[in-house]
Amino acid sequence: TEKLPPSLSAKFKDSFAYETIKDRLPVILAKTVDAVHRLKNDIKEQHGEAGMEDLKSINGKLSKLRNEVQTDKAIIPIHDGRLNFEVWNAYLEKITCDNDGRTPSWFQDAWLYVECYMYRRIQEAVEECKVLKTLDPFQGQKDQALLSSADAVSILMEFLEGILGNLPSMDDSKFRPLFDQFFELDLWGNKCDLSISAGHDNFQTESPIAMLDVFRSFLLVDNLNQMWDDLHKLNKRKDGSVRLDIVLDNAGFELISDMCLAEFLLTSKMVSEVHFHPKRFPWFVSDTTKKDFIWTLETCRTSDNKAMADFGQMWEERLVDGSWIIKEHDFWTLPHDYHDMETIAPDLYADLSKSDLILFKGDLNYRKLVGDRNWPHTTPFDVALRGFRPSALCALRTLKADVVVGLLEGQDRVACKHTARWMVTGEFAVIQYCEKKSQ
Ligand code: F6P
Ligand code: MG
Repeated sequence: TEKLPPSLSAKFKDSFAYETIKDRLPVILAKTVDAVHRLKNDIKEQHGEAGMEDLKSINGKLSKLRNEVQTDKAIIPIHDGRLNFEVWNAYLEKITCDNDGRTPSWFQDAWLYVECYMYRRIQEAVEECKVLKTLDPFQGQKDQALLSSADAVSILMEFLEGILGNLPSMDDSKFRPLFDQFFELDLWGNKCDLSISAGHDNFQTESPIAMLDVFRSFLLVDNLNQMWDDLHKLNKRKDGSVRLDIVLDNAGFELISDMCLAEFLLTSKMVSEVHFHPKRFPWFVSDTTKKDFIWTLETCRTSDNKAMADFGQMWEERLVDGSWIIKEHDFWTLPHDYHDMETIAPDLYADLSKSDLILFKGDLNYRKLVGDRNWPHTTPFDVALRGFRPSALCALRTLKADVVVGLLEGQDRVACKHTARWMVTGEFAVIQYCEKKSQ
């Protein structure tokens, strides 16, 4: 059998995994309890006593969960009878079996698994409600994140609106720098997530376009050239029909930057349709659900800012005319890494195989692409993918977890001189591309 590096885990005490499970996850859970508690009056008004019962029940379960994390309890099965609970429980059994019968626990086993499991348990607390089954405990934080980055959002949208009319006929010498900029804007939009900061000012508050020159020196791998070449060839060959998929990460500014990239590529006719993949239920605090996606469009459409209002309306029309498609799939909220997609979710794998380019946004997607293992940093990206190649794919990711591959010898040492925590602060980033497997 294939010899693989070990999974990242809190059992390695000097790792970010340890720090996350010891300090960051309990904080996220405590904040979630607070956020739910603050909804008390609204819930009482809307749902009366039944709502209050549910609220108490959710918070009781979250507090218990926090205790389980902090005391390194064994992972227990999901028992809400919903949302693939049996897949989660089979996964738990498999790990137990791989552990020679030892049930996994928070500090002893794979970080990726237990962290995903935490969000599934939060969802279980919601699923088991009588009247609050659709509550999103992170809603307020996500909505606030978008509103707080309103300046950056309007700057980006005004910039896009200003060039939109020229895009269809622009020659490559002018177009190419813009192509890079929109990908870079989308990449750095990933700095803004709420799980890494446990909800503290991590919003995009400065001019995103002015920041690009500063950020560029923190880009460790930049495969934009290859992606450009391939997309360009495709474009000529396929006579206009080119499908782009975006596996979304965070709501707020990052989602806006995804939407702007999609619009940029559609208007310039680099692609003809964009499929967006949000999460089925609230995930890693700030990840985009379908509801967040729709809310974001509506917020734009009803904004006082002209560019925002224009795009809000245009994009709602795109959902109607089918140039934008929202695709939900349960796989994105399972604990499996993407190497397992072909067996666990063959329908999704087959669908993604019809894409011409799949963008994977953010840190968690990257961890799942490379299996969240302690790879030597010079491991080639396609080796770490372990055969996951439904189509041409590209990871746009700022580094927030201690795993990265595809670096040149010595690049890690240079980054480390900047800060010893270079892999986890979100300052450094990669744009890693892998072409379509030849048939
Ligand atoms: O626990 C922290 C963390 O979960 C990262 O390790 C995780 O991958 C990241 O937050 C979320 O980042 P992103 O939103 O970019 O996936
Ligand atoms: Mg996220």
